[in-house]
Amino acid sequence: MRYFLLIFALCVVTVMVVAGKRGSISRRPPIEVFPDMDRQPKLRPQTPNNFFADGKSSRPPILGTVAWDDHYQDTPVNTGKVSGTTNFVEVLPVDVNAKLLARGQQRFNINCSPCHGAQGDGGGITKKIGAMGVVANLHDKRIVELPDGEIFNTITYGKNLMGGYGANVTVEDRWAIVAYLRALQLSRLGSLDDVPEQIRATLKK
Ligand code: HEC
Repeated sequence: MRYFLLIFALCVVTVMVVAGKRGSISRRPPIEVFPDMDRQPKLRPQTPNNFFADGKSSRPPILGTVAWDDHYQDTPVNTGKVSGTTNFVEVLPVDVNAKLLARGQQRFNINCSPCHGAQGDGGGITKKIGAMGVVANLHDKRIVELPDGEIFNTITYGKNLMGGYGANVTVEDRWAIVAYLRALQLSRLGSLDDVPEQIRATLKK
């Protein structure tokens, strides 16, 4: 008990020495135990400052640039959602053609296959080396049934364990990946009935 009181008293004194003088005015700089963000090399907006030739701290927009907000619009292409709502668009809002699918395949193989596998079934290299426990199988019925816009949104922002790829993959490429992913899914959902009758007989059983 004696030691406890002694240690306690020491603690009280230490705290008072270190923290007690905070807020009192002194010419000497205070001891900073946790300097955190006490001093920042920043300019306060709307205040005079000698750093720039015109003496203002706020800077006008740089000539020839466009504010991001003006450029970015709440359209299905940009957000994957019906404008002004939080509802995902069911069908991708871009034209699907061979060029888009080829681009999507290339981008999928670069950005997605390390985890989801080239076939999208979750057997990518990260799974083999055990870097990721559960990687979604993109052929799951639930994912096949997701609206296109939600998949776009997952690529942009990620979901649960999956990080977002919005910073790496452009808007156009994200839609290309969505289109290619649909083609991958279709490749496992097709049945004999999808094959034109003339060539059914030539298929290996
Ligand atoms: C670093 C590994 C990794 C990469 C790369 C990756 N994913 Fe994922 N993805 C995951 C994991 C893990 C999950 C499961 C997330 C969970 O539910 O915890 C997942 C889930 C998903 C889902 C299901 C989301 C849902 O609604 O449940 C989709 C769709 C998907 N990923 C698409 C993609 C696409 C398209 C790409 C490429 C742009 C991609 N992923 C890249 C790891 C990855």
